[in-house]
Amino acid sequence: MSDPPIVFRRLLPVPGAAGLDVDALLDEMFHAIAAPGERPRTIVNFVASADGRVTVKGRSGELGDEGDRALFHGLRQRVDAVMAGPNTIRIERYGRILGKAERRRRRLAAGMVAEPLACLLTRNGNVPIEAPLFAEPDARVVVFGPAAIKPELDACPAQVELVALDPSEMTFTAALRRLRSDYGVRTLLCEGGPMVFGALLGEGLVDELFLTLAPKLVGGGTGPSITHGPELPEPASLRLQWLLEREHSLFARYAVN
Ligand SMILES: NC(=O)c1ccc[n+]([C@@H]2O[C@H](COP(=O)([O-])OP(=O)(O)OC[C@H]3O[C@@H](n4cnc5c(N)ncnc54)[C@H](OP(=O)(O)O)[C@@H]3O)[C@@H](O)[C@H]2O)c1
Repeated sequence: MSDPPIVFRRLLPVPGAAGLDVDALLDEMFHAIAAPGERPRTIVNFVASADGRVTVKGRSGELGDEGDRALFHGLRQRVDAVMAGPNTIRIERYGRILGKAERRRRRLAAGMVAEPLACLLTRNGNVPIEAPLFAEPDARVVVFGPAAIKPELDACPAQVELVALDPSEMTFTAALRRLRSDYGVRTLLCEGGPMVFGALLGEGLVDELFLTLAPKLVGGGTGPSITHGPELPEPASLRLQWLLEREHSLFARYAVN
């Protein structure tokens, strides 16, 4: 008997699929999200070049185009909380999560609070206090970290709350449980960076990955990819939920096993 044929599905060109509205797509996705258990449903979002790099000259901005930004802000608009690593918040100079008043109005109209909670975890007091986020009086930020950083956080104009964790429980598992139980967070968007994504995967906490493949080659060879840290005991399997194209960028949404 001969081996069965290896078959592929052509995703592009897809007749009739042009003109897909990102907001409608995301609305449909978020309506279908099931109630989470003891932690929020966790969605990770990254943009990478075709050679797998996540930065150009140390930052991600040059990789993303308008399509990527539409998804980035569309996801932010729909989640209860946004998490990023301290390095990402510092290097990318995070400000308030929804800068545009129109997006905050849309959330209020949908019965949500105006802006998602911003959050981060630092085991060693690595607080990116110089990022504009911490200077924004309207921003609500939750920091999971050691008790010793409280005075530094209290001095910030932003509404910063410290959830002091013992060294033995400085994990994303503990932080996500607290986000769910103490802050009612049902959907969490994690915007990286690679170290945080690697750790979340290692703790088995990721439900979905949004990955924009930018039509660019960065070169180099030493820059980070979307994950960093110890290799996983087994590779995590991904199931493609959708694949969109716009101006040569590919936008994949995967379910993570
Ligand atoms: N292309 C993209 O989509 C994208 C997205 C995000 C970021 N980036 C880029 O990625 C770079 C920053 O990423 P990064 O990987 O250096 O840093 P990161 O993931 O933003 O933050 C790393 C920090 O997270 C803290 N952390 C808490 N728990 C951890 C754990 N279990 N394991 C590891 N770290 C833990 C650590 O601080 P403590 O030691 O204090 O715990 C660590 O230093 C920037 O250049 C940014 O531009 C690109």
